[in-house]
Amino acid sequence: MSTSERPTILRRAPESYSAASKWLHWLTAACIFFLIPSGLSLEHLPEGVIQNTFYDLHRSFGFVVLCLAILRVGVRLYYGAPAAYAGLTPFERIASQAAHMALYVLIFVTPMLGWAATSAYPVTVSVFWLFNLPMIAPANEDLFKTLILGHKIAAFTMAGVLAAHIGGALMHGFIKRDGVLARMLPDGFMQPRN
Ligand code: HEM
Repeated sequence: MSTSERPTILRRAPESYSAASKWLHWLTAACIFFLIPSGLSLEHLPEGVIQNTFYDLHRSFGFVVLCLAILRVGVRLYYGAPAAYAGLTPFERIASQAAHMALYVLIFVTPMLGWAATSAYPVTVSVFWLFNLPMIAPANEDLFKTLILGHKIAAFTMAGVLAAHIGGALMHGFIKRDGVLARMLPDGFMQPRN
């Protein structure tokens, strides 16, 4: 079997992120930039239509993140991902790989815990008022409290990892001005300094 005939997951790592990986990365980021502030404000909103609408939107975008996560793992297995940027220090390489791994786990775990907590409350998740998701946990107050605590811990962990991830990406893009940030941007969008 020649190299090009091998399944993509067994071939050499590609030189850049695929367009599909980039789209999925930025769509996920856009959802999360809505989910974190909306999640923090949900309990503080006045009860009624506005609060209910934000709960529905928060749950709907959480479900979108879960779908994007599934697609993303599929795309990553199919197209692969480029090796770490050659100019990274050993610390940067290990830290960025750990952050990426944590983010992959958290984009599954956080929405799943939110969905399970909502089921245990018990409330049905309505996705953009178009269709309902099945209940995935039995109605139980103690279970709800445990699951919602897990959801909040996962969300705060994600926010912390993201702060480091985004800080690192911006530092590479605007201070070191190497090719790291450009790897996740559309081709030719940002030229590294050297
Ligand atoms: C907000 C939600 C975000 C999530 C969940 C997320 C997650 C991830 C993950 C899992 C990877 C690894 C991709 C892979 O190797 O398969 C990655 C790569 C990357 N992300 Fe993010 N990211 C987010 C936001 C951002 C933002 C706002 C920026 C820029 C300011 C950014 C910049 C990058 C860059 C440059 C890479 C490629 C790093 C490399 O070449 O090794 N990300 N992101």
